[in-house]
Amino acid sequence: MESLSEEKKTRLRKYLSERKALVDGRLRDHFSPMNGPSALISKAMSHSLFAGGKRLRPVLCMASASVVGGREEDVLPVACALECIHTYSLIHDDLPAMDDDDLRRGKPTSHKVFGEAIALLAGDGLLTEAFRLMADPSLVERNDAPVLLKVIRIVAEAAGSQGMVGGQVADVLSEGKKVDFPVVEYIHRHKTGAMIRASVLSGALLGGATREQVEILGKYGEKIGLAFQISDDILDVEGDGETMGKATGSDDKKGKATYPALLGLARAKDIQAKLVEEAVDSLEGFGNRAEPLKLIARYIVERKK
Ligand code: IPE
Ligand code: IPE
Ligand code: MG
Ligand code: MG
Ligand code: MG
Repeated sequence: MESLSEEKKTRLRKYLSERKALVDGRLRDHFSPMNGPSALISKAMSHSLFAGGKRLRPVLCMASASVVGGREEDVLPVACALECIHTYSLIHDDLPAMDDDDLRRGKPTSHKVFGEAIALLAGDGLLTEAFRLMADPSLVERNDAPVLLKVIRIVAEAAGSQGMVGGQVADVLSEGKKVDFPVVEYIHRHKTGAMIRASVLSGALLGGATREQVEILGKYGEKIGLAFQISDDILDVEGDGETMGKATGSDDKKGKATYPALLGLARAKDIQAKLVEEAVDSLEGFGNRAEPLKLIARYIVERKK
């Protein structure tokens, strides 16, 4: 696969940082500091939320709304909800009972700063806040109820036991065991792929996509979602921890079921490149409007963090 030209890289960087700023702004408005006996929960939620994530899922939601002719600003509450669920999943993923990691987004993990009880609750708080965001009055006003309810259902399914949580269960159960390819693929499609697919689908639905567009974008989301977790595995082997803001080499240490561990780095990279290629090709029918989604797909292979 051809790598991105310098010009495209610059365009992508600008595109991502502009949208990240929009998402961060909306999240800041939503999560103002709390007072009173439970004020610590808002500190803990903000600690993880504003530690510097890439905001890939919100950006995908916005880009997907736009590719079908919707307005990016109009989907911001759902974009923020996706980020809240993602951040909650990271807080819980890092807990001693799960991956037991000390560093996340370049900062000490939630349980290291606030203790396990507050870290658990910060995750719970963020997950719940996501559903409040998806019932934001602006969304209720702008969208037909069946569309909004469908979006909420898709996000809930992707986050829950049939999606991300299910993938995390399989991930934990597979630790230190020799598992075969279908299990690793299952883990990756669920723990990471499901929320990425839902990010694309939610944007598409709110943007007014046709049934056919939803079908195409759902497949695109599935492919880049799987590719994204493969790149996460690859970066754990050959990435730079400083740049990524989290520890490297931890999958190997814990005997995690990953693509590189099962297939080797070269084969993992081939599979990832093929997925991205297919994802990019699948967007042909959208014309120029699909450039951001295509660039994001390519970015997944090239990213350093
Ligand atoms: C990390 O996600 C965990 C995975 C699901 C692979 P990201 O790489 O998107 O992390 P942030 O949000 O930028 O911190
Ligand atoms: C995490 O996968 C997936 C979710 C948080 C749902 P990993 O455990 O590989 O993510 P990192 O490497 O800790 O970011
Ligand atoms: Mg994990
Ligand atoms: Mg982890
Ligand atoms: Mg990882």
